Amino acid sequence: MSIPNASMFLWHSFDARSLLPVNWASTVVQFALANATQRLIAPTSVTSREGEEIDSLITLTVGGQTVRQGLPWLFDLYETAFKDLAQRCTSEPLFVASDDRYGVNLNVQRGSEMRYEAHVDSNPVEGLLYATSHPEGTGGELVVSNNINTFGISTIDNNCSRIYPAAGHLVFFDARKHAHYVAPLRATDAIRVVVAMNFYAPSCPESARPADLNRHLGIE
Ligand SMILES: [Fe+2]
Repeated sequence: MSIPNASMFLWHSFDARSLLPVNWASTVVQFALANATQRLIAPTSVTSREGEEIDSLITLTVGGQTVRQGLPWLFDLYETAFKDLAQRCTSEPLFVASDDRYGVNLNVQRGSEMRYEAHVDSNPVEGLLYATSHPEGTGGELVVSNNINTFGISTIDNNCSRIYPAAGHLVFFDARKHAHYVAPLRATDAIRVVVAMNFYAPSCPESARPADLNRHLGIE
């Protein structure tokens, strides 16, 4: 038997559909498409893990204050049931963000030209609720390096874990050391929407969030 690689990426997944209201997925997708702000970002944040050949990427994001106003039930779940599930994934007490701007964001990809920036997280637990499904072969999977301290998508691809989004699945992980990005969608008319939620812990509090990150992500 081979010895498992201690650095291999670990994630937890729940089927959260029983916690969600009727028609939640189409509601979230329509809200995201109506409210997302497009930005051209340079991958220069302290959390960026792009290769040197990449000088800009397009992002489509709905900031947390807009989510709080338009989808208050989603913010409620973040602060209650989703937090309780996140807590089952770590022994440290978890806290939701006090700043709505990055507590809950909606990240959108449209068509085959976009992909989410390669980066590491600054928070100890990230929660992702998928609002759209992207089976293997259709693009849109989360690609996470199994090694730590890697830069660039080709290096990440060399040894990675791929998480294929399924609508209603809620995943949690600590990706502070494992660089990750979202693969482009294959179809030119495809749409991907994910609810991204930040949780914090005493050993990695909200106050340690990098100062440049809100501007970088376009959620100031
Ligand atoms: Fe991330």
